[in-house]
Amino acid sequence: MASALIVYAHPAHQRSRANRALLDRISDLHNVTVHDLYETYPDFFIDVEAEQALLLEHDLIVIQHPVYWYNMPALLREWQDLVLEYGYAYGRQQQKLAGKGMWVVMTAGAPEHTYSETGVNERPLSDYFLHYPRMANVCHLDMKPTFEIYHGRHTEDATLGDAAEQYRSRLLSYLKELSNHA
Ligand SMILES: Cc1cc2nc3c(=O)[nH]c(=O)nc-3n(C[C@H](O)[C@H](O)[C@H](O)COP(=O)(O)O)c2cc1C
Repeated sequence: MASALIVYAHPAHQRSRANRALLDRISDLHNVTVHDLYETYPDFFIDVEAEQALLLEHDLIVIQHPVYWYNMPALLREWQDLVLEYGYAYGRQQQKLAGKGMWVVMTAGAPEHTYSETGVNERPLSDYFLHYPRMANVCHLDMKPTFEIYHGRHTEDATLGDAAEQYRSRLLSYLKELSNHA
């Protein structure tokens, strides 16, 4: 069975509603490891070797975070710079993550309609995160369609529950797909 590593970056998980609902819904899956970056590295000193080894042990890399200032939280950005380094994640014949799956999961505070040409955020959320497909391309990762939750702190409980259900089933289907290819 394929396995997933959720690289989770939430600076205030104790106050989370949306991400917590997602993670709660998959907490029974034994082949899924939730790796909480802010819990592991409160001082921002990332153990690069340990992170690189952890990625190698898994088939699907899930990058999960709330949207902060149209971007990823700072520690995830630091992780990306240090862990996905030349000679490991990219470089001639040195793409150690090549062939693994990559799935981005993000939660936004603003409602979905604000992320459009006529909305206050002027463009789709995906436009602010065009670096993710580039990262997948450079590292030869197979990027799955991004999972987005909007209005994270204010959606109805039932809507959030449905989203958590979809999140779980998407995760399981990617793992099944990766198991079949192994
Ligand atoms: C410092 C900070 C910056 C934020 N920036 C954005 C933003 O640019 N766009 C947005 O839609 N929401 C933004 N938010 C709202 C969070 O994305 C939202 O509260 C979170 O995704 C909800 O998920 P959670 O319940 O797991 O915390 C921001 C929140 C904080 C604290």
